[in-house]
Amino acid sequence: MDWRVSAARTYGTPLYAYDADLLTDRLRILSGLFGDRFGISYAIKANPNLAVLRVIRPWLDTFDASSHAEVERAVAAGMDPAHVTFSGPAKRHEEIARAMAMGLGELVLEHADEARQASAIAQRLGRVQDVLVRINPMRVPRGFGASMAATPSQFGIDEEDIAAELPGIAALPGLRLIGFHIYSGTNCRDPNAIAENFAIFADIFRRAQAITGIRPTRLVFGSGFGLNYLPGEAPLDHEALPALVNPVIDALRAEPAFRDARCNLELGRWLVGPAGWLLTGVVSAKQSRGAAVRTCDAGFNNHLAAASMMGTVIPRNWVFENVTNPDGPVGRYTLTGPLCTSIDRLAHGIDLPEVRPGDILAIPNSGAYGLTASPTRFISHPEPREVLRQGGQLADVSESALNRWQGEAPDV
Ligand SMILES: Cc1ncc(COP(=O)(O)O)c(C=O)c1O
Repeated sequence: MDWRVSAARTYGTPLYAYDADLLTDRLRILSGLFGDRFGISYAIKANPNLAVLRVIRPWLDTFDASSHAEVERAVAAGMDPAHVTFSGPAKRHEEIARAMAMGLGELVLEHADEARQASAIAQRLGRVQDVLVRINPMRVPRGFGASMAATPSQFGIDEEDIAAELPGIAALPGLRLIGFHIYSGTNCRDPNAIAENFAIFADIFRRAQAITGIRPTRLVFGSGFGLNYLPGEAPLDHEALPALVNPVIDALRAEPAFRDARCNLELGRWLVGPAGWLLTGVVSAKQSRGAAVRTCDAGFNNHLAAASMMGTVIPRNWVFENVTNPDGPVGRYTLTGPLCTSIDRLAHGIDLPEVRPGDILAIPNSGAYGLTASPTRFISHPEPREVLRQGGQLADVSESALNRWQGEAPDV
């Protein structure tokens, strides 16, 4: 039997199911892809489950946290705080202070005001904090799903302002500027666009180095490696990347000012997305005005992105599998969730092997930006459990126990 079916039968649906072996395969591929040119920085926001973080940690140079709670998660997963970076646009005073007091490795500064605040906190704590300045480029090549460039943004210092802003930040007494960080676009499946983006980064890093005169020891390349979420989309041909990207990195590292620069690829979805599925049970069948409607126990409350509600302009069906009836006759269905709003639709006009009440549907590529990127408390349905499969064994790694029903169910 498909392990996802037995997981769903054992733990109930909705269920997030993660495969640690598949995740490890992807970590292994990425670690070997570019030789020693890059370390890996995993963005915890993609999937912060502790059991998942523990699988990932041994492969990393750094965890990137975007809240102090994520810093704490990284440490709980066994990471030395010195190997944690902390990025994010609205870090609270207390978050910065707590992270520094724990011995945070690198604080990623998003703007000059934050730099001044961080310097003052570091001085009060009697330390000098290593920092990276995040820079927001003017340009992102075509092919990135969402870009943060060339518009007013809360992320980083605008490229056109670095000459004015960087010297002041570099001079702050509580901070040691050790490098730069760029993350400007997400979910790209085009190797040429990724390489072109890295060349843009390298050029900006050169200018930032010339302005500050530092010899960077850290450069973060927010990689934007994408996934094929929609039917018919080709995956990112990662094997094509080294030939395109390595010359960019080698040329940069050949310059004396960059000889000591440790480059990190910072990413999340490409690593964990394919290692997870959301499993949802079909609750009921209904015919409505010519459409075969199937209501499911997961909706956008459990998976905002799969319902095309996470930054998608035109709703498009993700890939779904009917894992309990894979060989059934194909029909066309509208899949809805359990929420009392007409926008709770998972798919429209999707062709699937016959979908019957009681069947279990799997949504692939759900290991990133799934559970914790969804408004799970809306309408108080029980939050999905999470399971991790490792070496053929399933472990309950649920962190979501909110809204469980009270007491025993009647035996009817
Ligand atoms: C600073 C930063 N780094 C890395 C990531 C990870 O992006 P992805 O999961 O698309 O690789 C994000 C995502 O928003 C981010 O904001």
